[in-house]
Amino acid sequence: MESKIIVALDFDSESKTLTFVDRVDPTQCRVKVGKELFTRCGPALVKQLVARNFDVFLDLKFHDIPNTVAHAVAAAADLGVWMTNVHASGGREMMVAARDAVATLNPGDRPLVIAVTVLTSLAAADLQAIGVSASPAEQVLNLARLAQDAGLDGVVCSAAETAALRAEMGADFCLVTPGIRRQEDAVGDQKRVVGPADAIVNGSDYLVVGRPITQAAEPTSELEAFNQAVSGASCIGC
Ligand code: C5P
Repeated sequence: MESKIIVALDFDSESKTLTFVDRVDPTQCRVKVGKELFTRCGPALVKQLVARNFDVFLDLKFHDIPNTVAHAVAAAADLGVWMTNVHASGGREMMVAARDAVATLNPGDRPLVIAVTVLTSLAAADLQAIGVSASPAEQVLNLARLAQDAGLDGVVCSAAETAALRAEMGADFCLVTPGIRRQEDAVGDQKRVVGPADAIVNGSDYLVVGRPITQAAEPTSELEAFNQAVSGASCIGC
């Protein structure tokens, strides 16, 4: 099964992470390792997840000079991850370097490289304060176009941005969307959430889901419910 659900492994230790992943089936989901878990547990844990046959999204949002980012992306590929990402605001040359770092790998060994556009924590005033006069929505589109032009595979985008990005970027550009909640789920600190089926209908390829699955008493059944929720959905504008 090619699950569209990427479970965010937002744990603070190896033991909690392995306790969780030992309860879920790698054919039923992919997993995301972010900055906290990576900084605590490092590449060794990523390798353990890969060895357990999980498709790993290494969410480290690289942003540096092109040479450094290229080597970081190559290092991610060496770990065997399925997907990794960079900040589109690092610029075209940096994204081209990221893409080129893995371009010659066999398709089965080449991680997808996607971009972060505008962090959803930034509002218009925050962009102005860092010298960006475009609105967040305009800047998301600007940076997504730049990422596509640089040859990247897709972007991380909020649920609110998905439909516009799918229309603008075409069917082959990978859209990965966090902020997913069913009606019965606690929203937590997410500001704008969307249901799993709606996210797929709007054009998302993969949904990042954390606490509704990782904090559940029965993670396997919650994961199954998320898989069920998206199984009948298909993108309208694709
Ligand atoms: O627990 P929850 O489902 O809210 O987790 C969502 C995951 O997606 C977290 O790892 C969070 O850091 C990440 N994320 C997000 N919003 C963004 C980018 C990433 O929630 N704009």
